[in-house]
Amino acid sequence: MPFLVAAGEREIVGYVIARGAADEGEILNLAVAPQFRRRGVGCGLGRAILELLGSRGVTAVYLEVRASNAVARALYEQLGFREVGRRENYYRRPVEDAILLRAAIPAVRASAKL
Ligand SMILES: CC(C)(COP(=O)(O)OP(=O)(O)OC[C@H]1O[C@@H](n2cnc3c(N)ncnc32)[C@H](O)[C@@H]1OP(=O)(O)O)[C@@H](O)C(=O)NCCC(=O)NCCS
Repeated sequence: MPFLVAAGEREIVGYVIARGAADEGEILNLAVAPQFRRRGVGCGLGRAILELLGSRGVTAVYLEVRASNAVARALYEQLGFREVGRRENYYRRPVEDAILLRAAIPAVRASAKL
């Protein structure tokens, strides 16, 4: 299960965890410590995990994000994710829809890394 950590001098700055099976992958969680946000770390982690999944033959990556999480949705949009569905009342505390996003990893890039 791919798990990348962005490490600072003394602390964990951020991490991303994903899974991949055959040609499909999923980003399970991506987070950056509040004091390190808005410096490109989240975007860097996202790009790195897509690269890693692509190198393992993944050509499509999915994830779910809270509908109200505008910051994460903007980041994922920048990484090439597009909305492909909605899961109603998917989250608890508070109850909220999940937006299902998908990004294609170009097959050329994926196969070039194999
Ligand atoms: C979402 C999260 C990982 C972003 O991390 P980050 O390191 O701050 O993100 P970056 O600095 O790489 O920003 C990348 C893009 O995200 C968007 N973004 C990030 N912070 C934003 C903010 N406060 N307001 C609006 N857009 C924002 C922008 O599009 C930004 O690109 P830009 O700086 O060129 O405008 C971070 O806010 C976080 O950990 N949030 C809590 C956990 C979470 O919601 N995870 C996602 C669900 S799995």
